[in-house]
Amino acid sequence: MVTALFQPLRIRSLVLKNRIVIAPMMQHAAPGGFANHWHLVHLGKFALGGAGLIITESTAVSPVGRIGKDDAGLWEDAHIQPWREVVDFVHQSGSAIGVQLGHAGRKAGSKALWDGGQALTPEQMLKEDPRWARIGPSPIPAGPGWSIPEAMSIAAIEKVIGEFESAARRADAAGFDTVELHFGHGYLVTSFLSPVSNKRTDEYGVNREGRMKLAVDLASRVRAVWPKEKPLWCRLSVVDGAVDGWGEEDTIQLVHRLQSVGVDVIDCSSGGLTEQTHALPVARGLGFQVPFARRVKSETGVITQAVGMIIDAHQAEDILTSGSADLVAIGREALFDPYWPLHAQWALERDTGFADWHIRHKVWLEKRQTFLDSLSTHSDH
Ligand SMILES: Cc1cc2nc3c(=O)[nH]c(=O)nc-3n(C[C@H](O)[C@H](O)[C@H](O)COP(=O)(O)O)c2cc1C
Repeated sequence: MVTALFQPLRIRSLVLKNRIVIAPMMQHAAPGGFANHWHLVHLGKFALGGAGLIITESTAVSPVGRIGKDDAGLWEDAHIQPWREVVDFVHQSGSAIGVQLGHAGRKAGSKALWDGGQALTPEQMLKEDPRWARIGPSPIPAGPGWSIPEAMSIAAIEKVIGEFESAARRADAAGFDTVELHFGHGYLVTSFLSPVSNKRTDEYGVNREGRMKLAVDLASRVRAVWPKEKPLWCRLSVVDGAVDGWGEEDTIQLVHRLQSVGVDVIDCSSGGLTEQTHALPVARGLGFQVPFARRVKSETGVITQAVGMIIDAHQAEDILTSGSADLVAIGREALFDPYWPLHAQWALERDTGFADWHIRHKVWLEKRQTFLDSLSTHSDH
């Protein structure tokens, strides 16, 4: 029996072998922006674990827009080849792989998450790398401890759009199957969307239409350089988490616009605009963001990806069969168990056996299972 979780999904020419996506997770492990052995092993193990799609950590389109100093990058051609090695390994191991392209905007320059993730001072950023800077729609800091970002001129906006285009071209050259545009979590594009952080009086502000312009322009321009047969993902903070900030109804309007410029999948996350995300209208329980994916899917018809505390095979299956989403993404759960997809298959479709495990492991696991089954048969007597 093939369950919903293991139904393939075709989007444009990409066929995902199942509905399980590894969520983007920052590693702070790429000095100079270069992917390396860490990324090969870290992402490669998720391919061996049976994920349908693996999305890389937020990968900077420019050194200006790095979140942390050692963010992965695609801001120069030299970044292509190391990524290609990761991509090739993932493909050889049977999974698809996408790159999340991001620009940190006014949230550039923070410590690694294991060091607390706090903002660096402008002096610390300058010392690390003079190219690193905070920019945003308006001179409003991301929160206490964050410096005032430089308000972007139209020329600066155009430059960033060009950087996303170039990074997408490099992503194609590296062989990535998808690009996910990171429009969530308070980074550059979220800061343009939210009325809390965007007080511009030009075409990139004033009202919702203006605040959405950067997101729509970016998606449309990336779509134009990204091959037609490859799908485009977009991660949104469906609600940005700020009082009087960006909300669900705003997201529905934005998704209609993103669909019209060729975005295929909406990855439904939330929060991150400021450090005060207490205004989130949902408590952080299991599957806490699934209702966002459900609403976005039902009101726009777009393919949605649910994420956030999805930890159990049956829970994931229910999310799909109840029509809340088309894809489920796991983050921390994949760190806990990189073989989560194959274990979920074992839990839901025991009769599939080890058919989908890597050829180098499959026969040995079958022998092991026959042995375990014989032990339990003996103990039954
Ligand atoms: C270590 C770590 C790094 C993360 N880095 C990113 C990132 O680069 N881009 C992003 O959009 N979300 C990032 N996230 C958020 C995850 O993609 C995911 O949305 C979140 O962890 C909720 O899913 P989970 O409960 O399955 O972990 C990160 C999460 C973790 C745990």
